[in-house]
Amino acid sequence: MNSIAQLATPALLLDLDVLERNLARMAQRADALGVRLRPHAKTHKCPQVAELQRTNGATGITVSTLHEAEVFADHGFDDITWAFPLILSRVDEALALAARINLSLLIDSRAALEALAACHDGSEPVRVWLKVDCGYHRAGLAPDSEELTALAAEVAATAGLEFAGILTHSGHAYDAADRDAVRAVAEQERSVMADAAARIRAAGVAVPDVSVGSTPAMSAVESLDGISEVRPGNYAFFDHTQCVLGSCEPEDVAVSVLTSVVSRMPDHSVVDAGALAMSKDPGPAAQGRGMGPLYDDERPGHLHPTLQLAALSQEHGIVNRPMAVGTRLRVMPNHSCLTVACFDEYHVVRGGTVVDRWKIWRGR
Ligand SMILES: Cc1ncc(COP(=O)(O)O)c(C=O)c1O
Repeated sequence: MNSIAQLATPALLLDLDVLERNLARMAQRADALGVRLRPHAKTHKCPQVAELQRTNGATGITVSTLHEAEVFADHGFDDITWAFPLILSRVDEALALAARINLSLLIDSRAALEALAACHDGSEPVRVWLKVDCGYHRAGLAPDSEELTALAAEVAATAGLEFAGILTHSGHAYDAADRDAVRAVAEQERSVMADAAARIRAAGVAVPDVSVGSTPAMSAVESLDGISEVRPGNYAFFDHTQCVLGSCEPEDVAVSVLTSVVSRMPDHSVVDAGALAMSKDPGPAAQGRGMGPLYDDERPGHLHPTLQLAALSQEHGIVNRPMAVGTRLRVMPNHSCLTVACFDEYHVVRGGTVVDRWKIWRGR
């Protein structure tokens, strides 16, 4: 196998020791909190990583695209939640996959329910989640609305459909100013969902499962009473945003982008890690580390105190210091899920040696 020093750049490195530690820790955390773990595989889009999650206690996986669902199904994963509001133009595709594996779908509207009911041929029942808005306000039904209870009853009563339960995502944990604020969002997510489930049950509809989860919330939450499963995704790799939020330490970040200096200017260098390697995620507000901090070669696992990717264009990255052409650097992504989605493969590294290459299954 290759040494990192021989790799062509830009390259996405995945540190296997760190990944395995992250997966084991989250499995222990879910166990301690008394919930099942259904990791979100959109972070890695990679069957080998999902396989490690399965050996670390995952009872199924979550995906955000039908392509991911199909890829994981082809790799032997037969219990998948497509945790994205149903795309009406793809109901036929979704139902075809649901005939092969246990695929659960997510809706938050009567229009989606009607589209599903109209296309389903009544063979195998399809599990349907209702999306609830626990405070993020991106998508989902209001937790205390009549509409939520009514739709739950309708799903449960529709031939060919099975009501899976209610599902939410605490994405607003990413806007929290500090650990206490993250913890408050996590508790809000728990209590809003537990109350919503109680309301639906009081109306006579069984709610088999209550599903929550984001990586910051999972890192801070103290109780998950009333919740049956969690779906963190980013925790497999973490990133600079999670470091700033306090979900992890820099040595817990499992992916980095290897890049090299291609041009030295009086005040800066140009590297081959632009927006199509890093994504343009600006990272957490006020973190002051630009488009991604650089590692310090002198101190493995640590970030350099001042070096950073200061700006990005399509393929050019601007580093805030002039350096010799050919200098090799490593960047910590601001948002690992988006950075990973820029690459076709991981260079899997253990102890400084590249031990494998794993495909990243991009596509929708
Ligand atoms: C619906 C849903 N569930 C779970 C997750 C996982 O969240 P995180 O990446 O913070 O772990 C996401 C992430 O965007 C999501 O959209």
